[in-house]
Amino acid sequence: MASLDEIFDTVADSRIFKEREKLLPDYIPDKLIHRDKEITRLAHTLAVALRGERPNNVFIYGLTGTGKTAATKLVLRKLAEKAFSRGVKLYVAYVNVRQRDTPYRVMSDIAEAVGVRVPFTGLSTGEVYRRFVLRARKMRGVMIIVLDEIDFLVKKHGDDILYKLVRVNEDLGGNFKVSLIGITNSVSFVENLDPRVKSSLGEEEIVFSPYNAAQLRDILEERAREAFKPGVLDPDVIPLCSALAAREHGDARRALDLLRVAGEIAERRGESRVTRSHVMLARLEIERDRVVDVVKTLPLHSKLVLAAIVEATGGGRRTATTGEVYDLYKQYVSELGLEEVTFRRVSGIIGELDMLGIIRARTVSRGRYGKTRQIELAADPDPVVLVISEDPIISRIAEKLGASHGGSDSV
Ligand SMILES: Nc1ncnc2c1ncn2[C@@H]1O[C@H](COP(=O)(O)OP(=O)(O)O)[C@@H](O)[C@H]1O
Ligand SMILES: [Mg+2]
Repeated sequence: MASLDEIFDTVADSRIFKEREKLLPDYIPDKLIHRDKEITRLAHTLAVALRGERPNNVFIYGLTGTGKTAATKLVLRKLAEKAFSRGVKLYVAYVNVRQRDTPYRVMSDIAEAVGVRVPFTGLSTGEVYRRFVLRARKMRGVMIIVLDEIDFLVKKHGDDILYKLVRVNEDLGGNFKVSLIGITNSVSFVENLDPRVKSSLGEEEIVFSPYNAAQLRDILEERAREAFKPGVLDPDVIPLCSALAAREHGDARRALDLLRVAGEIAERRGESRVTRSHVMLARLEIERDRVVDVVKTLPLHSKLVLAAIVEATGGGRRTATTGEVYDLYKQYVSELGLEEVTFRRVSGIIGELDMLGIIRARTVSRGRYGKTRQIELAADPDPVVLVISEDPIISRIAEKLGASHGGSDSV
């Protein structure tokens, strides 16, 4: 093991990074290449705020990592600077509703952006809204409210608050005007919205399409120039990160993560160059973290079904059928003294695990015996077992899981 002294010195005198922060997901570069069209469009829409008009509401959608958040924040930052230099009253509330995940928190952030002080608890959301309106009626100017990852809020709490917000101008009297930007990674979510919310929020729609490998390469080149010391990246590192991320629906966040983690691994090992093999290791590390995050948040019975899949597939060495998985699941449930869910529900859980990419389930025909599903583990079994065994309820049967997945002979 390296001494602490050595660890601190290697990191402090990094031979790899100039400014690692430039690769972190929340850093917004000053220029976003390959997003000119979307940025120009958003800027044109919002620019009318500079002459005191209410911009159209905007609905922005596209898959994760296509630059929606970065582009929106960039445009708003520049708009706010412009408004300031021209003495225009502009208020911006940016709310990531995945992090601020209740209507109360969202409404508090909005109210605080116009100077209302809201206690952590103790008021109803309606009361916070009322205080916001009361204050805003006495003000002049334009306010732009961004609700990022809006699908999370609606999935959890319905669209009541959106319904209220798209009509807020009716409560405001006219000197203070609010416009909304809704951002979502989920296109199907849009279909399920209340039609009135949908049409109001969608006064303008901007779609962010996925980046291809060549575009990702340009993006990484740009960011790498700021983040790494000159010459430390092997020439095939950026193309590899881009190609891997392009396969995952053109996700720039994934591409940047790969590049950053590859650099971190090289640094940790005290090496002076970042190579292909660091990228491949980074991919494993990121995937492992993702699996851990996903499995951690699964409900109890989903974890039990997943545990049954791990055992039934011998830790991922073979496929299993829904029947086999169900039998094992029932066994666990009875050992733990829990109430079991139906076969149908277990089938549903298997479908959900498949969507999360933890397993793969494929329907196959067995001739006159009907159909069954062939289930295999898609994720590395080690982190799966580790996280499942940490569940305080399941930990009582965890030894079994470890044994079934066969520690030593699974390389
Ligand atoms: N065109 C681009 N140029 C530079 N960095 C980009 C570009 N598009 C996205 N990024 C970066 O990729 C990451 C993901 O972008 P983000 O805006 O968070 O995606 P989304 O909100 O669509 O999920 C962020 O770190 C962002 O800065
Ligand atoms: Mg985003």
